[in-house]
Amino acid sequence: MTVAVHVENLTRRFNDLVAVDHISFEIGQGEIFGLLGPNGAGKTTTLSMLATMLKPTEGTATVNGIDVERDEDGVRRSIGIVFQDQSLDEELTAWENMDFHGRLYRIPTEVRNERIDELLKLVELSDRKDDIVKTFSGGMRRRLEIARGLLHHPLVLFLDEPTLGLDPQTRNHLWQYIATLSREKGITIILTTHYMEEADRLCNRVAIIDHGKIIALDTPRNLKDGIGGDVVTIVSADTAAIARTLQEPWINRMDTNDGEVVISLRNAEQHISEIVTTLASRQIPISSISIHKPTLEDVFLSFTGKTIREQEAGNTEIMRQHMKMMRRH
Ligand SMILES: Nc1ncnc2c1ncn2[C@@H]1O[C@H](COP(=O)(O)OP(=O)(O)O)[C@@H](O)[C@H]1O
Ligand SMILES: [Mg+2]
Repeated sequence: MTVAVHVENLTRRFNDLVAVDHISFEIGQGEIFGLLGPNGAGKTTTLSMLATMLKPTEGTATVNGIDVERDEDGVRRSIGIVFQDQSLDEELTAWENMDFHGRLYRIPTEVRNERIDELLKLVELSDRKDDIVKTFSGGMRRRLEIARGLLHHPLVLFLDEPTLGLDPQTRNHLWQYIATLSREKGITIILTTHYMEEADRLCNRVAIIDHGKIIALDTPRNLKDGIGGDVVTIVSADTAAIARTLQEPWINRMDTNDGEVVISLRNAEQHISEIVTTLASRQIPISSISIHKPTLEDVFLSFTGKTIREQEAGNTEIMRQHMKMMRRH
């Protein structure tokens, strides 16, 4: 395996906050690698350090064998970046936006024109190439940004929350583009997301990140298999009683979480009636019970005791408190 990205003990502090906390991993050439975690987990900070936009406080990283601190320009020439705040020029056409980027990278005119045409075709924007970006939908803009990020033929492409704010259909469509890109061009793609489905569907391997730390890293398949079978979710007013009562050996793990008991077990269909009978015989209330195959959300829950959704709600709450405090002073 040719190593595209090597990260060792990479750390970034902002004053007292450790936004990225001694993370280590390696990404092979051609992989689609995902950093999955809730808002504030440290995903963008990690990507920013790899893209040389932010200095690490500690640790090292190389991209395409080039050290991010020793040779920023070298790294920058070999990567493409599509970040949230990297915007297109609204008043220029799709083609002009591409052309502008190509000139920045000093790509000779003839090669530039050829590549722009090829990339616009790849993201299906050829027939809109002469329209100004102002008239584009969110999905079209994102596709154009990705095409632009590829113009100088980077070996590694960084995508920060590539489908944030897009509707599910556009999101699905974009996943197909990204997968095609990886397949046809063999470039390494590192993306961040807080959509577990995105990480699951698109990535060869996923690092789950929470509070700046990698808490699990593997293929989506292995991560899901690791939690021990199917997932049964019981919604109840007395989750504590359920946790006390269900002590069966076929239960691989159990988490109680905000009015829900989440149980992992193999062959859940065979045990579900037993669960219901046991709880009913003790008069323990059940509002609902459901079975599903494990998702990366279940993996996140099993490692952190929280869902990504809740973690985000928590952040919103922190932000709200912060705003209130600011108002008072
Ligand atoms: N420039 C900065 N100054 C201070 N704190 C920052 C800065 N950038 C990010 N942070 C903090 O670092 C943490 C990680 O942020 P970030 O990497 O943006 O998370 P994510 O991309 O996973 O949502 C958050 O708590 C965020 O508030
Ligand atoms: Mg981010």
